Amino acid sequence: MIKCDIGFARRFIKDEDYLKARKKADEALLQLQNKTGPGSEWLGWRDILANPNDAELEQITALGEKVRDKADVFIVCGIGGSYLGAKAVIDALTPHFGSAGPEILYAGHHLGGKYLKELLAYLKEPKEDGSHKNIYLNVISKSGSTLETALSFRMLRELIEDMYEDEASEHIICTTSKEGGILNKLIDQKGYKKFIIPGDVGGRYSVLTPVGLLPIAVAGIDIKTLFYGAVSAYSEFEQNAEDVIEYAALRNAIHESGKTIDVFATFEPELSSIGGWIQQLLGESEGKEGKGIFPSVATFSTDLHSLGQFIQQGQRSLMETMIIVEKPFSNLKVNKLDGNDDELNYLAGKSFHEINTKAREGTTEAHSEGDVPIVRISIEALNAENIGQLIYFFELLTGIFVYSLGVNPFNQPGVEDYKKAMYRLLGK
Ligand code: PA5
Repeated sequence: MIKCDIGFARRFIKDEDYLKARKKADEALLQLQNKTGPGSEWLGWRDILANPNDAELEQITALGEKVRDKADVFIVCGIGGSYLGAKAVIDALTPHFGSAGPEILYAGHHLGGKYLKELLAYLKEPKEDGSHKNIYLNVISKSGSTLETALSFRMLRELIEDMYEDEASEHIICTTSKEGGILNKLIDQKGYKKFIIPGDVGGRYSVLTPVGLLPIAVAGIDIKTLFYGAVSAYSEFEQNAEDVIEYAALRNAIHESGKTIDVFATFEPELSSIGGWIQQLLGESEGKEGKGIFPSVATFSTDLHSLGQFIQQGQRSLMETMIIVEKPFSNLKVNKLDGNDDELNYLAGKSFHEINTKAREGTTEAHSEGDVPIVRISIEALNAENIGQLIYFFELLTGIFVYSLGVNPFNQPGVEDYKKAMYRLLGK
């Protein structure tokens, strides 16, 4: 199970401040459990784990296998909570290079014309044997009307309709709300296959619904193991949420002390996109009413050579949350080189995991000496079960921490402001 260690951060907080924050975190957990906090009609992300829908898991697994078998390219078309969770899990659990199964591509998450033009051209390009690529498109939008996603869907749908004519609807899968929205109108007209996003699960809490599960299944990941990993975390934290409470309390006390940035850092490049998912989950949930700790993401060692200087010696406005995988998941070792001309033989025989671990320990020591409060979150291994646990850990942490700020974690009123201004400028 997940471990949370606040040992490198606790000295930055006075006992009385920590105890005050602890009390708030305890109360926040009760608000979640008793559904008494603001936005409590959005707690479906907990209910789906309390009552797993095995039939839906089977149905998604079966469709995932079918598409995986047939497709050359699978496009995930969505923005924010409608794609970040799937991308996080897929990037964590599939090979970096030469993955078997369809190529997974993303669209609908911005308005960049160059990207979309090149994507459309790439999809039209024939394979080496001259035949066209077999393409499947999953459009994901809870509202069914988000401009970035809807516009990309329009362009991609046109291409698929030209390519497959009467059979186009076989290649388009829509994930959206039960009813309402323009996407539902299109589904009714065209007969596209549809998955429903539960009405009480908000976008950024929806990775364990069809929103995330279908793309993850197409990527060849066992979604039942992922889902039941989250179920096991749910069951454990319903009995004893001490680790989550401690972290939420610490983060709250750090927030009160005036720190404004939390750097979510990992030494495993596989977890970079998990950082992106956490960034959105926390960012959209806590950043309201002039409150919140800005969540930023760093992948080390890469970013030790970009953000490292600031973290070590810049304005002391930040804390760091390190996400750690304990067990090695690659057995690559350093060879002994005759002549030792690069002078690296002192590392011969060591695994990259050992070396990376020392880099992490050294960085923790240095950043801590540089007065950065550090929280360490560890999973045992990089596998579907542990990633499922990590997902629920951060969902619960978000709920508890944001409630303890006195804020509704489940709405995003600020996001509407850019949309209103954009639509006005576009003449909608
Ligand atoms: O967490 C959220 O609610 C948002 O990030 C949404 O997921 C995002 O805005 C996309 O919305 P929709 O799925 O309605 O297109």
